[in-house]
Amino acid sequence: MAVSVQNKIKKLRDEIQQHNYSYYVLDEPAIPDVEYDKLMRNLQKLEEANPKLITPDSPTQRVGAQPLEAFSPAKHEVPMLSLGNVFSVDELEAFEIRIKDRLKRDINIDYTAEPKLDGLAVSLVYEKGLLVRGATRGDGMTGEDITENIRTIKSVPLKLRKHKKLPSKLEVRGEVFIPIKDFEKMNAKARKQGEKTFVNPRNAAAGSLRQLDPKSTAARPLDIYFYSATNIEKLTTIKTQYESLQFLKELGLRICPEINKVPGYRGCLNYYEEILNKRDKLGYEIDGVVYKVNDLDLQEELGFVSRAPRWAVAHKFPAQEAVTKVERIEFQVGRTGALTPVAKLKPVFVGGVTVSNATLHNMDEVQRKDVRAGDEVIIRRAGDVIPEVVKTVLKPGSKRNKAVQAPTECPVCQSEVVRIDDEAVIRCSAGLYCPAQRKGAIKHFASRTAMDIEGLGDKLVDQLVDEEIISSVQDLFYLDKEKIVALERMGEKSTDNLLTAIETSKQTTFSRFVYSLGIREVGEATANALTDYFDNLEALLATNHEELQEIDDVGPVVAENIMAFFSQEHNREVIDALIKAGVSWEKKPKLKQSSKLEGNIFVLTGTLEKLTRTEASEKLKNLGAKVTSSVSKKTTAVIAGANPGSKVTKAEKLGVKILSEKDLEKLLKV
Ligand code: IVH
Repeated sequence: MAVSVQNKIKKLRDEIQQHNYSYYVLDEPAIPDVEYDKLMRNLQKLEEANPKLITPDSPTQRVGAQPLEAFSPAKHEVPMLSLGNVFSVDELEAFEIRIKDRLKRDINIDYTAEPKLDGLAVSLVYEKGLLVRGATRGDGMTGEDITENIRTIKSVPLKLRKHKKLPSKLEVRGEVFIPIKDFEKMNAKARKQGEKTFVNPRNAAAGSLRQLDPKSTAARPLDIYFYSATNIEKLTTIKTQYESLQFLKELGLRICPEINKVPGYRGCLNYYEEILNKRDKLGYEIDGVVYKVNDLDLQEELGFVSRAPRWAVAHKFPAQEAVTKVERIEFQVGRTGALTPVAKLKPVFVGGVTVSNATLHNMDEVQRKDVRAGDEVIIRRAGDVIPEVVKTVLKPGSKRNKAVQAPTECPVCQSEVVRIDDEAVIRCSAGLYCPAQRKGAIKHFASRTAMDIEGLGDKLVDQLVDEEIISSVQDLFYLDKEKIVALERMGEKSTDNLLTAIETSKQTTFSRFVYSLGIREVGEATANALTDYFDNLEALLATNHEELQEIDDVGPVVAENIMAFFSQEHNREVIDALIKAGVSWEKKPKLKQSSKLEGNIFVLTGTLEKLTRTEASEKLKNLGAKVTSSVSKKTTAVIAGANPGSKVTKAEKLGVKILSEKDLEKLLKV
């Protein structure tokens, strides 16, 4: 018996490890997330029942320890060095000449070329394949022991994959960073909650690694790419940097997919151009590229000079931050009427593009940063996101303009501006009477993730609204070809393409349709949840506050937004007109096996033995029941598995029935 549980646990762990490898290292997920979650839950259950079998390398053991009092020092056996920099072709050529001089021979030199990730260097030690230590770089000789925090990074394997070349002790190094999208989300959330935002992804990553409570670190979207293995030429038969990176990959350690082998400094230059062009699309911040002499024997021969290797160099990109002057501060009106303060700048060249606008996000941010017209400011460009003002640089004694005031009327339609209680945003109150909001709504409707009308870009929407050819989304389906052809920058061919694209877009999905309506705070995920829950448009239009809040993802605020949207006569007209114009989607197939449970509403909580919650939920729905995530008076019963949470308490309070998994089984018997 014990052996078989042990085997089961081992099998699950191996399976999970294999999926982690496919997902994080190969970037080819082999199973859907729900399946993965199921494996994790199964493992958790078995471990809970057999706590003696829990080992620190189990994938369930990422966030374990209590908060620390302080980090202990961690000495590096091999110092963590820095890199020399070059900024130009000449300097790069000089770097290669120095290498050849030093080697006293004129040979062709191959390099490994890698992005220079803008995060934090860390050292990880694996003993017998198990992660035993994670440390920061510190001063290069001694860093801080951040093992517990490193363990929370999901792409860091707690155990390496089996490999015949694996040395009994292996130190690997890499860069911890936060992907740009996740960084944006973190800051948007902080901004919404009136908290301080992070200046850039690097600072956010640094702050996250420095949390004394590993639970806090676990909540941050940290990621890692590994770029070296210490003493690898002595520990294995590996002969080049490039091979050593492939070796890391085989061990289950994530390496950057952009890494390449290139010939000579000319090869390096091509690589530099290639990565610079891709920079905005990488999804993480880099501040240059690194070239490393590929041959490890040559590296050894070249050695080090003043704490940097002679065999490697960083080729830095042009700066992403710049200082310029704010000419004025304007307020732009978005799709939902939100007025966003934008600094109009004296044009400045940053990271390869000329920037003349930078966002200030909202009035709270303007006040916090105290940015005023005429100020010198530092601006920052990250990836392809809108540049932002980091801070003002005040010259002592200089006279400044008055602080910016929030406008009282909409700069586009002059309607009244309102600020809702504790929201950070101020809004134009005119709704779709405001041309700016109208344009925003149409741009959103046409966008790729909504109705996906190819060729209907922002500029064209502006033209169409300004020329009064359209005033609402449904007008798109009744366009007059003559009027479009006559527009600036349009011709016969582009007009035909546009009309075809509009026609094609009519065949859509329920979820895209709901999303495209632009209901406030109904993004793609919420639109999906809504259209999963409601069988058809009629059912959605007939909903109410209470019912909406039973849906995952929908809280009171979103429910209010949805109700407010549908209660407006104008919006109902738009929906009718769109359907009349021929917008349609495939109706949901009737899955229901019977309507035995019609009219019943269930809430699932805790861990079920025989089914996952998703499976149980599917089965209940097939019998006509509804399954929601929050308990209310309308709930028929709460079905509670092991370790149920607050939902059971709530059910008890409301006098809602509580059923066991056994009861569920009975219910499901057809
Ligand atoms: S190699 C002796 N490779 O840059 C070699 N470093 O200026 C030293 N970095 O502390 C490290 N991406 O934090 C190397 N592909 C890469 C890198 C990289 C980013 C950082 C690392 C290091 C700093 C050196």
